[in-house]
Amino acid sequence: MQPRKIIIDTDPGQDDAVAILLALASPEQIEVLGITCVAGNVPLALTARNARMVCELAGRPDIPVFAGCDRPLGRALVTAEHVHGKTGLDGPSLPEPQMPLQSQHAVDFIIDTVRSHPPGTITLCPLGPLTNIATALARAPDIAPRLQEIVLMGGAYFEVGNITPAAEFNIYVDPQAAQAVFAAGVPLVVMPLDVTHKALVTAERNAAFRNLGTPVGIAVAQMTEFFERYDREKYGSLGAPLHDPCVTAYLLAPHLFSGRHVNVEIETTSELTMGMTVADWWRVTDRPANATFMGQIDADGFFALLTQRLARL
Ligand code: BDR
Ligand code: CA
Repeated sequence: MQPRKIIIDTDPGQDDAVAILLALASPEQIEVLGITCVAGNVPLALTARNARMVCELAGRPDIPVFAGCDRPLGRALVTAEHVHGKTGLDGPSLPEPQMPLQSQHAVDFIIDTVRSHPPGTITLCPLGPLTNIATALARAPDIAPRLQEIVLMGGAYFEVGNITPAAEFNIYVDPQAAQAVFAAGVPLVVMPLDVTHKALVTAERNAAFRNLGTPVGIAVAQMTEFFERYDREKYGSLGAPLHDPCVTAYLLAPHLFSGRHVNVEIETTSELTMGMTVADWWRVTDRPANATFMGQIDADGFFALLTQRLARL
């Protein structure tokens, strides 16, 4: 089978970095056509820098990396240095990237790529706020029916929120963009906190990364060590949640995940619950299903896959 063609839209972020590494470690199943960066965990200049550092860490300076939107559609940017550190990629000490940033805007790259490939062959993998994706869909509505799928990390139902009591970070930062993406009629797979808070880097799993003994294994151990302190203090959890790698793992091994095809709407007006993903998990409305909202993960299977693939880099 031909590898699945994807564009990773991202705001690295240590967990974004691991998601990218997992994709680049799996070329027989995934072809990364490009990485598009967005403002999120840290401002755009840093996410565009960090994405290139991750490509170089993986030995893939040939992957085109694009900078996209530097702020949400209708709100001021909210960042998450309190989780990811000042650079967004605190933990390992990685060299400044040598590979260039592409001159094309990320949104134009997304539009051109989808238009120039046969319908149904491109999957978008958003790992940050949905600003680039919503902007591409608004500017070029013809790309929506041409997409194979959008597989994204964002939202929560049972876990409710992490940046506010009601909202998950990626959706909260740009709720209007999220609303546009969830209404676009594109097949959607959503990895919410309900799943990603079960993908925890325990001490044992961290040791497995480190014991790979490679620059990638050691960097991943250092990254997850850095950002676990936040979740340990806040939730008392066993280690860092690998939010974004759930997206890549789904492309590689969808059987590791289960969920429900339900209606999901985004709160865009109430300040109190801004960015909440109102998932009709119990199907109590007649609103049409627009997303496969995941709820469960086989965490041992996920970490086995991740460690085994990272060993290849
Ligand atoms: C999401 O927000 C970011 O901090 C992470 O990279 C992830 O994409 C989790 O809420
Ligand atoms: Ca992210």
